[in-house]
Parts: sequence; C-alpha cells; structure tokens
Amino acid sequence: MRAFFAIISGNDVSLAKAEIDSLIGLTGAEARVSWFGQLVQIESTHDIAHFLLERAALTKEAGSIIGHGPISDTSMGWLSDDALTACVKPTETFSVRTKSLTAERHVEQRERLSASLGARIKNLTNARVSLDNPDVSVLAIIIPDRILVCISKESRLRLELRLRKPGRKPFFHPSMMNSELARVMCNLAGVKPKAVVLDPFCGGGGILCEAASIGARAVGLELNWRLINGALKNLAGSLERETSVVQADSRLLPLQIGQFDCITTDPPYGRASSTRGVKARKLVLTLLENAPEIVRDRGRLCICGSHEMGIKAMIQDLGFTIKYHVLVPVHSGLTRELTAVEF
Ligand SMILES: C[S@@+](CC[C@H](N)C(=O)[O-])C[C@H]1O[C@@H](n2cnc3c(N)ncnc32)[C@H](O)[C@@H]1O
Repeated sequence: MRAFFAIISGNDVSLAKAEIDSLIGLTGAEARVSWFGQLVQIESTHDIAHFLLERAALTKEAGSIIGHGPISDTSMGWLSDDALTACVKPTETFSVRTKSLTAERHVEQRERLSASLGARIKNLTNARVSLDNPDVSVLAIIIPDRILVCISKESRLRLELRLRKPGRKPFFHPSMMNSELARVMCNLAGVKPKAVVLDPFCGGGGILCEAASIGARAVGLELNWRLINGALKNLAGSLERETSVVQADSRLLPLQIGQFDCITTDPPYGRASSTRGVKARKLVLTLLENAPEIVRDRGRLCICGSHEMGIKAMIQDLGFTIKYHVLVPVHSGLTRELTAVEF
C-alpha cells in the first residue's frame, strides 16, 4: 500500500466525501481512508491521487505522501534522503509550500519547515527552485499531531470545469446544471468511459456534457425543442461522439431493458424549467418506478432535486438501496438534495 492525500475545495466536505468514496470504488482498489477537515489521506494499492485529479470535481490538489513525522521535529530527521531524491531529479525545478490545517497558522514553524526542506532538496539534488512553474511541487502539511511531506499536483480538471460553466458553453439556458455539480453527479452514479448514461430531463445538456467528457455515451431525453438543439450544440465539442438527444417525454421511456449503465439527472423544479403542467413529484416518481427496468444490474441512478421535493422519501418508499445522500445548501430558499441509488 502507498500513501496518498487530496485537499478538497470548500468547507462542506460531505459531498466531496461521497465523491471520493465513489471514485475509490470505481478503481476497485483496496483503500483505507481517513479525513481531517478538507484533507483526506488514502492508503491504497492503486495511484488514487492521479485518478482523483483526473476525475474528481471537488479535489483541488492531490499527490503522494513521501514521509510524515512528529510536529515537534521541524528538522525532519524522520524524512529519508531517498524519499526526496526519488521525487526531485537534478535536472528538474522544484518549489516548497507549507500549509497548516490546524486551528493555529504556525507561521514561524512553517517558515522554518520551508527553509530546511528547500535547503535539503537543493543539497541532495542540486535542482533549481522555481516558485511559478516548478516541475515538482513539494507540500508540507501540518495537521494536529503530525507533519506530512507530500508531492502535490494541482487539479487541471477544476480549471476545465470553470471553462465548461453554462455561461461559457455555446448554448446557455438558466435551467442548466453547472459543470462542477454535473461532474460530481456523474461520479456518484459511477460513470466510466464507454458507459451508456441517460439523462431523461436533459435540458441544455449540462450533465450530458460532463458524462461525455468522461468518455461515456450520453443519451438525453427532453420535451423542449429549443433545449434539444442547445444540448446538441453544447455536445458538439465533446470527447465522446456517440451521444444522442431525443425529443421524448421521460414518462414514456422508449428504451430497452437493462440498456443503460446509469441514469444521472435533475428533474424540473424552480421557475427556470417547465413541466408542461405535470407535477414535478409525479415526473420523479414515474422515473423512479421505471428506472430499475432500463438500468443494468448494479447500475446506479443519481438524482438531484430541491430538498422540498422529498426525493429520498420516495426512494425509500420504493425500497431501493441508497448509496449516497447529501444535502447541498445553495441559498436561504434552496437546499439541493442529491441521492444515488444502486439497483
Ligand atoms: C432542471 S432542467 C434539466 C437540466 C439538465 N439536466 C442539465 O444537465 O443541464 C429540467 C428539464 O426537464 C425538461 N422536462 C420537463 N418535463 C419533461 C418530461 N416530461 N420529459 C422530458 N423532459 C422534461 C424541461 O424542459 C427542462 O429542460
């Protein structure tokens, strides 16, 4: 087993915990996970950090832990020279950063840490320091009982997700799902490359675009013709070209048994999307009743609605197994409820 870390964005860790748990499950690796605030430490047989950087919407940075020791020993006698020379080559550039995840900021301790770690790497490897664009980024993290020395990489996916925000897509509609949450939902639904993913309320295609960017075959159903055209425009630049958007009513799924690996969706709620007079709860109930038929065995459904819709209770009444359930406060009038079910 090797030791990895990830630091997640924001203070509400419940969604990030669910996302990371689901992604670890996708790798099939054995893993031991422990959380401290926004930091997660993962011991695993698989390079989990690399996978999280590729897939997780809520991971800011991640990498491997190359040593850890008591906070009292800032000279870091516990960190082996071999661990450092294995990570920084003489021809590479490096930087050293420090972070305190305790209640104290540890300003002096961090300055000492950074100076001694920098000097040691320089002595051992003769590599050059580059603060702006280093080949290797060394990060020392102070947690209450220990210092972790890590090799860290920042998430490029988070930048890509910002570039895929609804307002930056070729077609925009206010009902569209933002790219970060759409990616989290795909992850909770266990979307893999080449999986066949259905969004039966696909609107302008926020979720479909994220599923396609993972390499899945995204299929969307939508009533509104303008939104269908919009979704097709948004999907035009996708990685996975086998996508389709069909004008259809989600209550009459024109689909075959076990055809989908997963369903990822947000039904209409709020003023931005129309239900054509049908109660939103009724649309959700019909979808939930039909979903086990069209999703393969052990496939998942991840659904996001307003908390007031009571989707979790509907799922429980139908006797499905809830894999993840997270409440996400948006503003005083709206809390989103995300539920993932495994059939
Ligand atoms: C919240 S929006 C979906 C956003 C979209 N999932 C995304 O990722 O951007 C809900 C959509 O459901 C559509 N809709 C409403 N009733 C429907 C039905 N019976 N069948 C299919 N689509 C429906 C609305 O037109 C609306 O575009």
